[in-house]
Amino acid sequence: MKYMSGNELREKFLKFFEERGHLRLPSASLIPQDDPTLLLIGAGMAPFKPFFTGKMKPPSPRVTTCQKCIRTGDVENVGKTARHGTFFEMLGNFSFGDYFKNEAIEWAWEFFTKVIKLPVEKLYVSIYQDDDEAFDIWHNKIGLPEDRIFRMGKEDNFWEHGVGPCGPCSEIYYDKGEEYGCGKPGCTVGCDCDRYMEVWNLVFTQFCKEEDGSYSNLDHPNIDTGMGLERLATVMQGVNSIFDVDTVKAIRDKVCEISGKKYGEEHKYDVSIRVITDHVRSVTFMTSDGVMPSNEGRGYVLRRLIRRAARHGRLLGIQGSFLAKLSAEVIEGSRAGYPELEDK
Ligand code: GLY
Repeated sequence: MKYMSGNELREKFLKFFEERGHLRLPSASLIPQDDPTLLLIGAGMAPFKPFFTGKMKPPSPRVTTCQKCIRTGDVENVGKTARHGTFFEMLGNFSFGDYFKNEAIEWAWEFFTKVIKLPVEKLYVSIYQDDDEAFDIWHNKIGLPEDRIFRMGKEDNFWEHGVGPCGPCSEIYYDKGEEYGCGKPGCTVGCDCDRYMEVWNLVFTQFCKEEDGSYSNLDHPNIDTGMGLERLATVMQGVNSIFDVDTVKAIRDKVCEISGKKYGEEHKYDVSIRVITDHVRSVTFMTSDGVMPSNEGRGYVLRRLIRRAARHGRLLGIQGSFLAKLSAEVIEGSRAGYPELEDK
């Protein structure tokens, strides 16, 4: 596999879908517009809910984006593992009542195997348990053997984000190799260990989740896909963790420079270095979108992330203020994709 930088991967993805009739839109703000069910944007589809439901007309029936996202549900795990982070970039292609399962699956496979040339034998998929149509496409059109297609239940293969558009999904997994596995008998796709990594989620958005928890049918079926850029970059850069990916590593290195600590020498320092690296990305992007620290709502999320990053700075022995210096590094690394960072 050829090494690809995060910026290169982002561009390749967006261009691939532009060539297939998608309008490239800039990332939306992290602050949801007219969606009281979300504190922050945590998925590429979130800003497009009114287009899926038909409440608003999209600027094009096919759209592609790289959306800045924040998810803080797992904040306590950040730093402790190689894969948890609160900030990430999500690549996505969207169809608003236009193409459906066939194209979504065929293009995802083409992008993986022809454009970035992932080895076919490393790829596995999951589908929603009774989605025979998705099975048929993967098996008969793409040619994936039956034993590489896993049927899973609602918990794993039904995607929803607050209320609104949702549906069954099919995920593509990358096998990182035996050395990442738990070695337990039966370790396979869906195992909790690090071997089989979910990379791309293809959602067949057919339903709308109502406030009361019930589901109704949408007027037309849609496609919503989501792929974490940093996760994909770990594969293309042959590294173990999102903190080793080029764009993130530049910030990690700066934390080391400021603190005088070396990454990879002592576990407790590594945890702090990773916490600061992740949180300063979230904090910088949130601030540039106009979130201010406060004691409630998204302002509280921001305040908590700043406090956690500052505290871990003290644990590394950093005296005085340091987060602004790190923000400058975030801006430098991401201003090409997100000009608002520099403008604001
Ligand atoms: N919207 C699909 C995903 O975020 O996984």
